[in-house]
Amino acid sequence: MARPPWRLVLLPGDGIGPEVLAAVRPLLERASWEFESRSGRRLDVQEAVVGGAAVDRFGTPLPEETLRCAQSADAVLLGAVGGPAWDGLAPDRRPEAGLLALRRALGVYANLRPARTLPATRSPLRPEVALGVDVLLVRELTGGLYFGEPRRRWVRQDGLRAAVDTMTYDEEEIRRVARVAFEAARERRGRVTSVDKANVLACSRLWREVVTEVAGEYPDVRLDHQLVDSATLRLVQRPDEYDVILTENLFGDILSDLLGGIVGQFGALASASLGADGPGLFEPVHGSAPDLAGRDLATPAGAILSFALACRYAFGAPDLAQFLTEAVDDVLGEDAGLGTRAFGERVAHHFWLRSHVALT
Ligand code: NAD
Ligand code: IPM
Ligand code: MN
Repeated sequence: MARPPWRLVLLPGDGIGPEVLAAVRPLLERASWEFESRSGRRLDVQEAVVGGAAVDRFGTPLPEETLRCAQSADAVLLGAVGGPAWDGLAPDRRPEAGLLALRRALGVYANLRPARTLPATRSPLRPEVALGVDVLLVRELTGGLYFGEPRRRWVRQDGLRAAVDTMTYDEEEIRRVARVAFEAARERRGRVTSVDKANVLACSRLWREVVTEVAGEYPDVRLDHQLVDSATLRLVQRPDEYDVILTENLFGDILSDLLGGIVGQFGALASASLGADGPGLFEPVHGSAPDLAGRDLATPAGAILSFALACRYAFGAPDLAQFLTEAVDDVLGEDAGLGTRAFGERVAHHFWLRSHVALT
């Protein structure tokens, strides 16, 4: 009996989101063929609306239909959300609120953001510093300042505007993401750097304590703790020293863009957000880049590599993930200044070549 297809839901979103996901499309047919020949499961692709596009059509950044569709998928691939057109909206109607609600609803607490020196690197750092960077940032994704209550703004009795956000973590939220980082380090160079602000924040002191406890389960992994400010300095000075970086939600958001700057190809950074069960959410690290939108200028490498991460973590095809990564490297190495669409087609060609050669 034929096995049911893998279900991939595409959420293009806003700005360059639809363009970078359109550039993934040419890869999907070949990927489906490869999946079918491995496991008898082809790839079924659906599309749904999220972000500003969903606000415009349905008045909400995460329509129920989109959430249902995502929850019943094996993997969700998101382009990007947000842009100046929606910046004035109430906080819960903003496109970004839709993305946060989606992460929370899918329970994807561990956000894996790999960053490595790419072929024909455009890093602004000196070559001896820029070469040999290979970092996996593990960012806690469903806690911390992004979700803590209370958070609101109001006008005080003295007439001044005030606002509050709350950073909260419990030990289980820290433990489960820490385990993801330690497991990943075992498959890599065996080193975790936990980044916090334990000299000031209560949440960070708890973070440090729990991460140290988890380290006891992984005697083969070396743990060190760094404060976020000096870690930021060190990352720019000696990025090659880092293997797995484990950190909370907001620090992870900031450090991942820094890693984009260090490797010099922000648009090529990909991510996988995983939970205990249910579909993973795969998305490039970059945003909707309003300055590039609609101009065929954005690199779709981050979106394609996010699909590669879906092959690895959702579709049980790590070999295809590897071919896709190599195909992106092939195209980056050609350095032909390709537009978004042509880049996708070129990667599809190299992907076909690499997977075909592996067959013969
Ligand atoms: P951004 O990530 O969109 O852009 C930052 C810089 O990187 C810009 O100079 C942009 O041109 C460049 N860049 C981004 N993606 C690129 C790509 N694929 N190829 C080449 N260059 C690329 O960040 P921003 O300008 O601060 O935010 C714009 C909007 O995107 C905001 O509304 C923000 O909330 C949203 N955002 C969404 C996500 C997401 O959907 N996951 C992530 C970050 C920001
Ligand atoms: C990211 C983005 C999001 C975040 C925004 C758009 C909510 O910056 O994925 O890095 O802050 O997590
Ligand atoms: Mn970010």
